[in-house]
Amino acid sequence: MDDLDPDLVRRDLEGTLFADLQWVSETGSTNADLLAAAREGAPEGLVLVADHQTSGRGRRGRTWEAPPGSSLLLSVLTRPSDPFTPDGGGGAVPALPTDRLFLVSMAMGIAAVETLRAATGADVRLKWPNDLVVGTGADTRKLSGILAESLVEGDQIAALVVGIGINVNWPATIPDELAQIATAANHVAGRDLDRAHILTGVLRRFAGAYERARTDVGRASLRAEYLSLSATVGSRVRVELAGETVIGDAVGLTDAGHLLVVDDGPDRPREITVGDVVHLRPH
Ligand code: BTN
Repeated sequence: MDDLDPDLVRRDLEGTLFADLQWVSETGSTNADLLAAAREGAPEGLVLVADHQTSGRGRRGRTWEAPPGSSLLLSVLTRPSDPFTPDGGGGAVPALPTDRLFLVSMAMGIAAVETLRAATGADVRLKWPNDLVVGTGADTRKLSGILAESLVEGDQIAALVVGIGINVNWPATIPDELAQIATAANHVAGRDLDRAHILTGVLRRFAGAYERARTDVGRASLRAEYLSLSATVGSRVRVELAGETVIGDAVGLTDAGHLLVVDDGPDRPREITVGDVVHLRPH
């Protein structure tokens, strides 16, 4: 990991919740590794970064591929169902209700958008549920994706692993099959970027946003921030559902993070819980 000195990153993360950083040159999937660590009782705050994944996982059972050394591939271990007491004292931070767990991946999305905006100067936005994109309508290109996976023990969510892949310094030519839909931060910025700097930026911002997700006031502010960074809400969209396609205007989010889409059907608006969104040109 040429530009990524784990000791320097650890030093920059000191005092934050996600400072216990481990780095491996290659693994199957950082999400799978942290789920296994969580099963063994690893505490909240563990971070695993890999230079290369051989079985990187994407949303909806897809794979996540990236040329070795070109990306940031990392996962964080959270235990949002456990209340905790911050080191610096103060009152205990309450558990996050199960129906609000999506806020943890939302917190990661917001942290990554803010970091990539600062690093590239580009208008990076969130495509529902949590892809980072640049461009509009049919010209939307993805530069990062987020996958949250939970460890269920009994009727409890014992841990939530949030993984993010960010295309940072990709080769000048993007493989044909991805060229129309993907991009990388260096292509957007017009120069190569420092992965260590992006990594610390994402983790520091995520730590703050994750803490905010624990309180009512913080949750309201995260939601407002997510909406202000959303490329989807306010857009004309096509949503591919199992066996059905919905075309309409994305008008908002429910409290559970579902997308509200107004189409021509009788149920207005439609509540989309899971699906692939395509941004369309405004009509
Ligand atoms: C998606 O957009 O489909 C989500 C992609 C998530 C990829 C990241 S890379 C690090 C972490 N480990 C994995 O196996 N997947 C996530």
